[in-house]
Amino acid sequence: MPKHQLYIETVGCQMNVLDSEMLVASLRKEDYEITDHLEQADTILFNTCSVREQAENKVYSALGRLRQHKQENPDKVVGVIGCMAQKDQKLIFDRAPYVDLVVGPGQLQKVPEIIREVRKGNRNQMAVSLGRKEGSNTLIKRSHETFDPLRDPQMRPTPSQAYLRIQIGCDKFCTYCIVPSVRGPEQGRAPEEILSEAKTLAEQGCLEITLVGQTVNSYRYNDGNKTTTLADLLEELHKIEGIRRLKFVTNYPKDMSDHLLEVVRDYPKVSPYLHVPLQSGSNEVLKRMKRGYTVEDYHDMMERIHATIPGAAVSSDFIVGFCGETEEEFQRSVEAVKKYRFKNSFIFKYSERPGTKGANLWEDDIPHVVKQERNRILLETQSQISEELNLAFLGKTVDILVEGPSKSQQRKSEDATSEIIQLTGRTHCDRIVLFEGNRRLIDQILPVSIYDTTPYSLFGAIETHEYPSALHSLTL
Ligand code: SAH
Ligand code: SF4
Ligand code: F3S
Repeated sequence: MPKHQLYIETVGCQMNVLDSEMLVASLRKEDYEITDHLEQADTILFNTCSVREQAENKVYSALGRLRQHKQENPDKVVGVIGCMAQKDQKLIFDRAPYVDLVVGPGQLQKVPEIIREVRKGNRNQMAVSLGRKEGSNTLIKRSHETFDPLRDPQMRPTPSQAYLRIQIGCDKFCTYCIVPSVRGPEQGRAPEEILSEAKTLAEQGCLEITLVGQTVNSYRYNDGNKTTTLADLLEELHKIEGIRRLKFVTNYPKDMSDHLLEVVRDYPKVSPYLHVPLQSGSNEVLKRMKRGYTVEDYHDMMERIHATIPGAAVSSDFIVGFCGETEEEFQRSVEAVKKYRFKNSFIFKYSERPGTKGANLWEDDIPHVVKQERNRILLETQSQISEELNLAFLGKTVDILVEGPSKSQQRKSEDATSEIIQLTGRTHCDRIVLFEGNRRLIDQILPVSIYDTTPYSLFGAIETHEYPSALHSLTL
C-alpha cells in the first residue's frame, strides 16, 4: 500500500492537464497513489485556471467546501497550483488560510519538496514565478521553468493519446487575456527533448500525440546554427514508429506558414485538422483585442488552407460581448461562422481579467444578458453549420481512434461489467464518433461506417469483425 493518497482536481486547458500528469508522475516516485475520493486523500491539490472568472470561482467554492474537512483533519495537505496560484498568490491564503501551498505553473517541479516542508509543519508555502515586469527578460524566462520531466501513462486523457508540450508561455498579449502574465514569456522547447519524449510515448503504446502550445504554430527554436519550426518538428515526429496520428493546438492565424500547411497535406499521420481561433468577425473588435490580424488576413489564411488541404477541418474560438462590442460588430462574427463553416467553435462570454490591458483601458460594458443572448445566437449558427458538415459523413467509412466508453455509457453504472458498450472515438479530422462495440476495441484505430449524425457527433457501426482477436486467443 503506497504511503500517500493524492486527490487532484484539474481545470483549464491542455497545459494544465499535462502539468497534472507530470506532477502525478513525480509524486508517484515518492510513493503517492491517486484516489478519486477526497476524504481518503492525505494530499489535496487543485490545479487551477484564470482564463475566465467562472473558472476561478469554481476553485474558491471548492476551497470553501473544504474548510471544515481541513479543520477536522489538520494533517491533510491542501494545495492550490497552476495559473490562479500565479495570479492570486497571497490572496489565496487570505481567502482560504487553511491552504498549505500555493505554487505557480512555472514552479511545479518544487511541489514534492514543498509538500515535505509542509508535513514538517512549515505551512503557507508559496512558490511563484516572476511577473512580466519583475526583472530582465532572461530572469523572467528562467523563473518559468518547463516542467516536462516524466510521463505517466495512467494520468493521460487515454493510454493511446498524449499531449506533448513544445512551447510554454505566450508573448501575444491579446488585450482580454491573462495567459501571458500567468504563463510567462513564450519559450520553445529544444527539438531533441521533444523528439525523445515522443519516442518514450510511442514505446508506452501511445498512438496519437497532440503537440500543445498557446500559439503552437509560432514555435521556433534556434540552437545557434539552425532554426526549427513546427513544420520541421512534424516531419521528424512523423518518422517515429508506433505513432499513428499527430495533432497540434492552438494555432495563431498570423503564423500559419505555407510550409506547415504542406506538411499537413503531405504527411499522412498529421491530422487534417486545424484549430485556429478567429475570436471576432469585426476588424474594430480584433483591433481592440490586439489580435494582430484583420478579417482579410484571416480570409487569406483560410483560402490558403483550403487550397492546400482540400477537406481540412477548421475550428475556432469566439469571444462575445467584448468591451464595446456593438450589435453590428457581433453580427460580423455570425457572418464569419457562416462564411468559414467551422467544424466547431468554442464560444465564450467575455470575462474581464484584472491586470490585462483590456481591463485597464475599457469598461466591461456589455450586460450579462446581452452576452448570453449573443452566445446563444452564435452557438446556434455554429450548430447548424456543424450539422450540415456532419451530414456529409452519412454512409461513409472513417478510421477512428477508440478512446473509451462514451459519456452516457460512463453514467450507466449498471452496465459497468458488460462487454458490449457504447464507445467513443475520433476521426482523423477530430470528429467525435459513437458506436457499439466490445471494450477490447479501446485504444485501437478501426474503420466505422456512419449511419446517423447530429451537430456534435457521428453515429456509426464498427466494420471490423472480432476475428483477429478471436484468433489471437485461440493461439494462446
Ligand atoms: N492561446 C489560445 C487560447 C488560449 S485561451 C489562442 O490564442 O487561441 C482559450 C480561449 O479562451 C481563447 O481562444 C479565447 O477565446 C478565450 N478567452 C481568453 N480570455 C478570455 C476572457 N478574458 N474572457 C472570455 N474568453 C476568453
Ligand atoms: Fe491569450 Fe492571445 Fe496568447 Fe492566446 S495568443 S494565450 S488568446 S494572449
Ligand atoms: Fe487557463 Fe492557464 Fe490554460 S489560465 S486556459 S489553465 S494556461
